[in-house]
Amino acid sequence: MSFVSRRDLLRSGFALSVSSLLSIHADRAHLLLARSGVHAQSPATIAPRERLLFDFDWKFQFGHGTDPARDLGFGKDQGDFSKTGDFEFANGKFDDSKWRALNLPHDWAVELPFVRDPDLESHGYKPLGRRYPETSIGWYRRVFDIPKEDEGRRIAVDFDGAFRSALVFLNGSFLGRNDNGYAPFRFDLTDFLNYGGRNYLVVRLDASFGDGWFYEGAGIYRHVWLTKTCALHLGHWDSYIRPEVKGNESALTLGTVVQNESRHAENCQVRWQILDAAGKIVATADSATQSIAADHSAAFTASATFGNPMLWSPNTPYLYSALVTVESGGKRRDVEQVSFGVRTATFDADKGFLLNGKPLKIKGTCNHQDHAGVGAALPDRLQSYRVAVLKDMACNAVRTSHNTPTPEWVEACDRLGMMMMCETRSMSSSAEGIAQLELMIKRYRNSPAIILWSMGNEEFTLQSTPQGERVVADMVERAHELDPTRPCTAAVNGRFESHFSDALDVMGFNYNLNAPDGWHRAHPAKPCVGSETASTVATRGIYSTDKLRNWVSAYDLNYPPWAETAESWWKFYAVREWLAGGFAWTGFDYRGEPTPYSWPSINSQFGIVDMCGFPKDDFYYYKAWWEVEPVLHVFPHWNWEEREGELISVWVHSNLDSVELLLNGKSQGFQKVQPLTHLEWKVKYEPGVLEARGTKDGKVVLIEKRETTGKPEAIRLTADRTEISADGEDLALLRVEVLDKEGRAIPTADLTIGFKVTGEGKLIGVGNGDPNCQESDKEPRRSLFNGLAQVIVQSSRTSGTITVEAAAEDGSAKLPPTRVTITTKKVDLRPAVG
Ligand code: GAL
Repeated sequence: MSFVSRRDLLRSGFALSVSSLLSIHADRAHLLLARSGVHAQSPATIAPRERLLFDFDWKFQFGHGTDPARDLGFGKDQGDFSKTGDFEFANGKFDDSKWRALNLPHDWAVELPFVRDPDLESHGYKPLGRRYPETSIGWYRRVFDIPKEDEGRRIAVDFDGAFRSALVFLNGSFLGRNDNGYAPFRFDLTDFLNYGGRNYLVVRLDASFGDGWFYEGAGIYRHVWLTKTCALHLGHWDSYIRPEVKGNESALTLGTVVQNESRHAENCQVRWQILDAAGKIVATADSATQSIAADHSAAFTASATFGNPMLWSPNTPYLYSALVTVESGGKRRDVEQVSFGVRTATFDADKGFLLNGKPLKIKGTCNHQDHAGVGAALPDRLQSYRVAVLKDMACNAVRTSHNTPTPEWVEACDRLGMMMMCETRSMSSSAEGIAQLELMIKRYRNSPAIILWSMGNEEFTLQSTPQGERVVADMVERAHELDPTRPCTAAVNGRFESHFSDALDVMGFNYNLNAPDGWHRAHPAKPCVGSETASTVATRGIYSTDKLRNWVSAYDLNYPPWAETAESWWKFYAVREWLAGGFAWTGFDYRGEPTPYSWPSINSQFGIVDMCGFPKDDFYYYKAWWEVEPVLHVFPHWNWEEREGELISVWVHSNLDSVELLLNGKSQGFQKVQPLTHLEWKVKYEPGVLEARGTKDGKVVLIEKRETTGKPEAIRLTADRTEISADGEDLALLRVEVLDKEGRAIPTADLTIGFKVTGEGKLIGVGNGDPNCQESDKEPRRSLFNGLAQVIVQSSRTSGTITVEAAAEDGSAKLPPTRVTITTKKVDLRPAVG
């Protein structure tokens, strides 16, 4: 039992990080409560917890980094913070009618033009930074009502993350700041609200400084929530469920913290109800009753057991949840729903990684949060889409390089079955560094997807100094306190022999395939993982490197000096049982770090899929050797009009026994597949049909063809889903192609297509995966890049249909316009701030 006063927390400068709630969806919890019949048996609820989405109907305007006159007068006479309650832009008299109306999540960086400035290269040539004061400051403003009846409740605003250096104001008062761009933060609004009237919330963000060396976006690019609880409530992300598997049973260690922010002592008890995925109660547990003095908190624990647990794994992502309820005076005072999974995850120095007791190679990718059309502001549906793209390649793990992830990325991994190495941004044992680490662990420690915490990435100085040893040891110690169930690692590059790694539970190797064998011999008891590998570069659909056009061929041949091909790193990791597996840099392309070229390239070419999620050919190398199902992929395309008679390199990625290649029916020879290796032919080009026939156990089981296509005749639009939710959040992703008269997609098409979106939705972004394309992400048009483009449309909150019409803008192509209709169906909306 522990007692900590709220004032103690405040004094320690820690209150903003550790006060308050977990990721409960109050709406869902109530549904489950109703479904499970819990209501009937339980005490009455006093003003239940509400978690309201705070994303809709914001106003936005640029400020200015150096000129107060263009920054709402902010910083004019240095007196800004002299009185905490005099901020006029955060009260009712301020006129924001000329500000732009928008919904969150929002990334203003992706809307900016590209600027040719070498200092902007790593962040993707967007004009952010101290030299771009006009476009580096953003103001967000939201007017909302709070009912009179809310008086007496605790009310907080939760930001899942905002980029960056947030200053937050409410009703004329300055509430506080949050510096880094990735960790979640919250402010308690209770004292500052106008009950029974209007309220004015203002956020100033300053993206002049960055946290990373990659595109990071700018703005409120994650969700915001308004959370209302009773004065006696569960602590913020304090609930944990630690499942162990014991024979046929799951034994749960349960814990939470209750905060009493009322003016009198409360005698309370915590109850846990464990629900299976169908909402049926499989176990319950009650804590001892404790009295909590006014303005104090107390820890509560209990244990529970249930039989025959469904074990979570990438193939069976089964989720349980716990309803955690605080009762006092015969009344339910707070309840939250915490999702969790039952599984064992172990790193072993000899056997690598074991999930549920069985060795499982980590077939992982590192990813930044950045997608075509939307930048860093990913609607939730895109998180699921991206997990599905990676799963299609048989990727079973992601690394949240190099920062605390967005909650919906973690939730998608829990739900869809994707393991995760979860990394904090700042490798530091400073108060700020530890606070960021704590937030990450407390926020996500119930997620079954997470198998490993990462203390950071490539801190070249810390890796070889006594300071670094101390810093990482402190971080690991704190991580173990908060989560004794998961090991800690760091992504280490170079100086492997220093004592920096002593404190790590699992050694992480970035690149350097010459290092792990010797290191393992010297440290035979330490498990090892490839924290970052590959950095292979490829342009989708390009088959000869062209330095003038910033293209790099998509054969698995190209990598910068520190990196390796897909085949070389996976051959290394696949055959060493003691290596747990690794994380390829990267799953998706991302803006910034435009390796191997710079301007006009604006994004990286490391991705196994491009910015839209369209696979490059390496995707099939991984799929062939990560997947158990038969895979056969032949490339390049077969449109080489000007190369008749020339030898073309034809590659096949396959996990079958052998492959025969044929051109226009003529065999080009059989080849036996060598494990973990691609096949290669040189074929004299003639137009027609290139065909690969894959054989297993003497039978042809797969056939893949590449056909020389004709002229563009039609546009094809294909929506990933033709029915989506009318909730103002859901999306349809449209694939845009150009077809010849036989209906074959033309792999080299580069027409510009215009889009018209009408009905109950809007276009929120376009892309084509071209690392050199500087067309707008937001305009309703896009050129195809090697035959493909992507359009992202989002529903409104009214049900109906969305029609997307596509027409060639290129005058030379007389293609009939085409259209696709998406139905948006009425759904229960997530509770939101009105
Ligand atoms: C690594 C680094 C990544 C990325 C990559 C490019 O060293 O950790 O963030 O920069 O190089 O190859």
